[in-house]
Amino acid sequence: SKAHTVSTIRQLVSDGEKFTMLTAYDATFAHLFSAHGIETLLVGDSLGMVCQGRSSTLPVTLDEMVYHTAAVARGNQGALIVADMPFNSYGTVAQALDSAGRLMQAGAQMVKLEGGAWLADAVTAMSRAGIPTCLHLGLTPQSVNKFGGYKVQGRDEASAQLMINEALALEAAGADFILLECVPASLAKALTQTVSVPVIGIGAGNGTDGQVLVSYDMLGLTQQRMAKFVKNYMAQNTGWESAVAAYIADVKSGQFPAPEHCFE
Ligand code: KIV
Ligand code: NA
Repeated sequence: SKAHTVSTIRQLVSDGEKFTMLTAYDATFAHLFSAHGIETLLVGDSLGMVCQGRSSTLPVTLDEMVYHTAAVARGNQGALIVADMPFNSYGTVAQALDSAGRLMQAGAQMVKLEGGAWLADAVTAMSRAGIPTCLHLGLTPQSVNKFGGYKVQGRDEASAQLMINEALALEAAGADFILLECVPASLAKALTQTVSVPVIGIGAGNGTDGQVLVSYDMLGLTQQRMAKFVKNYMAQNTGWESAVAAYIADVKSGQFPAPEHCFE
């Protein structure tokens, strides 16, 4: 099958087809997922938790993200690779360009940053430099200390409208994808209908263009209590291959996420 790019994903979305993303941190998982139909891989800074055993994503370094991105790129069989910019790697436009450049040279095809309109200048600079961006809005885990915990975002009218305005500003600045984490399903649906770039959701209902899960969660490997929005696809499947196929089928048909995985 052909390699996925920003334009093949845009085409899927304009054809009305939902797309899938799973996190991958190494070559083996990257190979398994990409060869079995997952269109986009996220080298998430969630690797701080699932690979390193940390309690937040804040300690993850750019060097570590580069290492994991290079491993994923070696195993990848044609998925679009998105790599997280870690905490403290994009505070200024110059730093963002430098950090993103290192991830792209390691094999990323897009970088993901957490934050709203304050990142517009960095997004434009990266866009000019040939670096596609995914902007992560809603519950942005690198800001856990500002939020005072992992909480659903955009619940009231003012913060919901602000999130839509921020997404529009980022799109105007050159953002290629938007990712929404832990926001009410109605807001995620409205935002997806308002912007023209593909929108990926996690804990954001089934009204977005794509879905992402942390692979260790959907494969039932995570030992901690899992978030409400997670579905363990190994519970009803006998192996990883059928679990991944069921996840893809459920995202394409709109059956995942179901109401029990959503916030309102
Ligand atoms: O790091 C990660 O895995 C993520 C997803 C949860 C969106 O950012
Ligand atoms: Na992340």
